Amino acid sequence: MQQLIMKVAENMQIAENVFKMVLEHPELEDQKPGQFVDIKVDGLYLRRPISVCESYPGFVVIIYKVVGKGTDQLSRIRKRETLDVLTGLGNGYDLSKAGDAPLLLGGGVGVPPLVLLARKLREQGKEVTAVLGFNTEAEIFGENIFRGLGCRTTVTTADGSHGVKGFVTDALPENYSYFYTCGPEPMLKAVWKATKTSGQFSFEERMGCGFGACMGCSCKTVTGIKRICKEGPVLEKEEIVWANL
Ligand SMILES: Cc1cc2nc3c(=O)[nH]c(=O)nc-3n(C[C@H](O)[C@H](O)[C@H](O)COP(=O)(O)OP(=O)(O)OC[C@H]3O[C@@H](n4cnc5c(N)ncnc54)[C@H](O)[C@@H]3O)c2cc1C
Ligand code: FES
Repeated sequence: MQQLIMKVAENMQIAENVFKMVLEHPELEDQKPGQFVDIKVDGLYLRRPISVCESYPGFVVIIYKVVGKGTDQLSRIRKRETLDVLTGLGNGYDLSKAGDAPLLLGGGVGVPPLVLLARKLREQGKEVTAVLGFNTEAEIFGENIFRGLGCRTTVTTADGSHGVKGFVTDALPENYSYFYTCGPEPMLKAVWKATKTSGQFSFEERMGCGFGACMGCSCKTVTGIKRICKEGPVLEKEEIVWANL
């Protein structure tokens, strides 16, 4: 984990209530797909966790949806302002299990962590299929990024305004070697039931400290209690215990 005062290089709206922010610092270490950053917002006690969407030497990209005070404040930050950020948090996705043809399933703000994952898998020569789910056309982002990376990409919308009408589970391909997913809990549960291979789930639970100290994000797994911020946010399909499935 690093604590850095990072410069905002870009902060722009890319879809309805959705913003992309680029944060830079010369000492920033490489971030793994599925890891997250935790941002201090003025006047708020708890930092706000946001997944790493892209990571290059010296900068990181995040995509966030405005849902409350913290993210609203983030959306108003201007270029060249600075933010206090904890980086390199969480375990991240394990790419070694992907097989030849991994499937990526993202819902809403669960899509961003799959961008860096898709790039890394494509760099390893994998045949990547991405299914991205949104409520409606105005909320869609990232489709071109996945296509640009050479992923076979399908978009679903709940209201049918773009792509396949329905949810990501309505557009699962016939064959895939393994899967990686991130999204709201109802979607994750549906994916858990509908998928036929092993896979990894990233959870975007509410958090306290964000780095393993408060136990506020503890959850029950087959192998015991885990802290989502430290031993997660990525859990294997076989270790998840759903509260109400
Ligand atoms: C590991 C991790 C990665 C995340 N990655 C992203 C990301 O890449 N992009 C993104 O937009 N968001 C992401 N989130 C969610 C993000 O942290 C919250 O949306 C944010 O903290 C809300 O802060 P706020 O002050 O704007 O909202 P608050 O005022 O705190 O809450 C506003 C509303 O949003 C709900 N809410 C807040 N946090 C969450 C949450 N974690 N899950 C579901 N509902 C929530 C509250 O219940 C409330 O109804 C991630 C969360 C975690 C734990
Ligand atoms: S948020 Fe404090 S231990 Fe996870």
